[in-house]
Amino acid sequence: MKRTSRISELREIISSEKKRGRKIALVPTMGFLHRGHLSLIEQAKQTDAFVVLSIFVNPLQFGPNEDLSRYPRDLERDAHLVEEAGVDVVFHPSVEEMYPRPMLTFVEVGELDRVLCGSSRPGHFRGVATVVSKLFNIVQPDMAFFGQKDYQQYLIIERMVKDLSLPIEICPVPIVREEDGLAMSSRNIYLTAEQRLEALVLSKSLNEAERSIHGGQRSAREIERQIREKITLESHGVIDYVEVRDAGSLSDVTDIQSPVLLALAVKFGTTRLIDNKVVEVEQNV
Ligand code: PAF
Repeated sequence: MKRTSRISELREIISSEKKRGRKIALVPTMGFLHRGHLSLIEQAKQTDAFVVLSIFVNPLQFGPNEDLSRYPRDLERDAHLVEEAGVDVVFHPSVEEMYPRPMLTFVEVGELDRVLCGSSRPGHFRGVATVVSKLFNIVQPDMAFFGQKDYQQYLIIERMVKDLSLPIEICPVPIVREEDGLAMSSRNIYLTAEQRLEALVLSKSLNEAERSIHGGQRSAREIERQIREKITLESHGVIDYVEVRDAGSLSDVTDIQSPVLLALAVKFGTTRLIDNKVVEVEQNV
């Protein structure tokens, strides 16, 4: 496995692979990898493409009071994991390599980035869309892999690629959970044992809500109320948002008739966790 922190070196490596006829798959990450990332790599490997994995904790997507400085990092551990997983090259640029001068150019995907995490983390998705565009320009991949735990991010990137006619296939990969249901996240490491246990209420409340929809409940506000009630009764988590939205457009939903996204963000101590579930709805005939 090759490793580089230089854009020019990465471009040379990729260009020689392209000359040999290889397709290029990109797995963008911020490192501190877990099984969720490994499943992105697994999917990328299945395409037979040359797999590029980037590790870059992108300052542009963190707000002033967020966890940029304490975001977990362990490049050697990550490099070992991805080598075993069969990645072909790891790209781990420094902030200076990615942003040698103050950025004046940004990518914004309007509307989609103003709801859910976008309204609680202003500027976050602008930072994500900008760094992903930059990575797309550096790597010029044929396909790129994104986890559905960050469902809104996946939709935003998919829309950006369509709007800008980028010749890249965006491949969503299902959420990977711990055995007890907690969605994998690099931020889970911040949780105390007690918070880790309480955080199980997130996946449980989503599962209950899904059962309730399948049982015939069609009111989005009632589903949101049920999820909020369970989280409040069974944990000390502080709810940032619990929302039912259209799974394709993220637009507001009142009456659940087509696939919906159940999305939530909840803080346990200083750790903000997100989780979601897409629920299909049987159409009445
Ligand atoms: O999902 C992430 O880890 C990040 O948002 C991404 C896509 C690597 C951009 O920094």
